Amino acid sequence: MDKVKLIRDDGLRTDGRKADELRPLKIEANVLHRADGSAYVEWGYNKVLAAVYGPRETHPRYAQKMDRGIVQCRYNMAPFSVSERRRPGPDRRSIEISKVTAEAFDRAVLTEKFPRASVDIYIEVLEANAGTRCAGIIAAAVAMADAGIPMRDMVAACAAGKVAGKIVVDLDKEEDNLGQADVPIAIMPRTGEILLLQMDGHLTATEFEQVLDMATEACKRIGAIQREALLNRYSTKPDAVKEGVATLDRTASPDGGDGNGK
Ligand code: CDP
Repeated sequence: MDKVKLIRDDGLRTDGRKADELRPLKIEANVLHRADGSAYVEWGYNKVLAAVYGPRETHPRYAQKMDRGIVQCRYNMAPFSVSERRRPGPDRRSIEISKVTAEAFDRAVLTEKFPRASVDIYIEVLEANAGTRCAGIIAAAVAMADAGIPMRDMVAACAAGKVAGKIVVDLDKEEDNLGQADVPIAIMPRTGEILLLQMDGHLTATEFEQVLDMATEACKRIGAIQREALLNRYSTKPDAVKEGVATLDRTASPDGGDGNGK
């Protein structure tokens, strides 16, 4: 098999992107009626849905904290989301992603406002093409705001890394598989405070700084897209419909109520 050229002769990446260019990102807020908050994200070939419930009674009870609330997360990949059918149910990877996602939000949410209760995040990956933990965090953050959960700031996430010796942002599947390093981060865009940082591969200290700068800058752009998704959902609705942003009327719920009461 021919070796895949991750950086083409014209300096662009295999999908034609520049080093600092994100895959197309589309976010829709409030897509589920039964959840307190929800969001759907398409990012390149990733398709991810997030639902948020709470603050509500903590299950399991032993996880309850008397002086503050907690954030719990379940990240799940559909069996059909990847090229080779994934065995349903939790595996080491999804348990890890659930844990780091919950920890990231635990730092952003004002948990002191709901002692003993929990906020539960469910992330369902419908199609995966690398970057799903970041896509899940992006969707979950919009779903949290949609649910009215008090947070210190929006939470944005993006990876940067190294492919064929070049520092690039938002690696796709091919770059993730064949590249040299992948560093997903989640931050609060206003302050730049890091809520999640993981690293797969090897980088020099200088390269690591460049990767961090590139991912941070991308997160700030993503934070603006997240805010825009919420504005599209909750501000002047007729304009949003005209622009093709809100295509469905989600004010009427299938069971006759007014959706989730908002
Ligand atoms: O998705 P993310 O980049 O956050 O996590 P990863 O563990 O680095 O996985 C990278 C990609 O590998 C996923 O997005 C999927 O496209 C793919 N993958 C897969 O094909 N089968 C799995 N069981 C897990 C991941």
